[in-house]
Amino acid sequence: MNMRFDILTLFPNFFSGPLDHGILSRAISSGVVQVALHDLRDFTHDRHRTVDDRPFGGGEGMVLKPQPIFDCVESLGAIESRIESSSSKINQLNKSNTESNGSITAIAPKPTRNTSRQSIILLSAQGKPFTQATAHRLAALDRVVLICGRYEGVDERVADLLADQELSIGDYVLSGGELAATVVLDATVRLLPGVLGHADSARYESFGAPDIQPNDPADGKTPDGVPRSTHGAGGILDYPHYTRPADFRGAPIPEVLAAGDHAAIRRWRRQMALAKTLRNRPDLLARAPLTPEDRAYLATLGYPNQRSS
Ligand code: ADE
Repeated sequence: MNMRFDILTLFPNFFSGPLDHGILSRAISSGVVQVALHDLRDFTHDRHRTVDDRPFGGGEGMVLKPQPIFDCVESLGAIESRIESSSSKINQLNKSNTESNGSITAIAPKPTRNTSRQSIILLSAQGKPFTQATAHRLAALDRVVLICGRYEGVDERVADLLADQELSIGDYVLSGGELAATVVLDATVRLLPGVLGHADSARYESFGAPDIQPNDPADGKTPDGVPRSTHGAGGILDYPHYTRPADFRGAPIPEVLAAGDHAAIRRWRRQMALAKTLRNRPDLLARAPLTPEDRAYLATLGYPNQRSS
């Protein structure tokens, strides 16, 4: 069964670049994933197609109104729903909302959404960090709705009552959620079965699958018989890669890679990955599953007693 993404945005054309190239484009045309774009302005009811309004309590900027976002989600019929119990937050909102038109039942209630393998995600700088582990969790779902914020913010009732997750792609503020939605889409789709050329490609890169251990017994030979020359990344950064020419403008490739000793290549790649992680992301080492051999190598670099620069 294929996976479906619905993206709610003020700029549907923003996605024509990312969706039309490379792995995403191939995943869509092969039917592994379906991506539907929804223009929030199509869910406004005034002549000016107004999606934003001034913030209650004063302050800078404009805030995205909840109504076009709720209406758009409610129009996504395949998001199954049950009538909410009277204690539900949605119904409380519904009762107190004089503009309510009864279409609220089209939303899958938050508590049942996870069991129905759906998620409604608000992209915002205030969200929980999006990580490779999040991408793996999303890749196991059938349907994901991504809500892209704009302006100064999104009415908080979207995060409270509609979305079941609020995700941020990093500690910086973007001018909208579209780039973040693209990141989430790309990182998730490439994990779907059949999307990457090699079934194991996604396991042997930075971060790897959450359950990969450095001494993974799957390590050995690839299905086509080529000796696998690396351990699973297992929560650390990927090792350095080289291709032809062996000498580029006087810079040679590391000798070990040309010598054909696969055990030595595996050891070298693991050490380079550890060294790079220590240099660029020492925070990852504290959480990574490390073997005594890893620790012995890291000790030669002064870890954990002293951080490399
Ligand atoms: N919208 C604005 N900044 C964002 C961020 N860092 N992540 C996700 N959505 C955002």
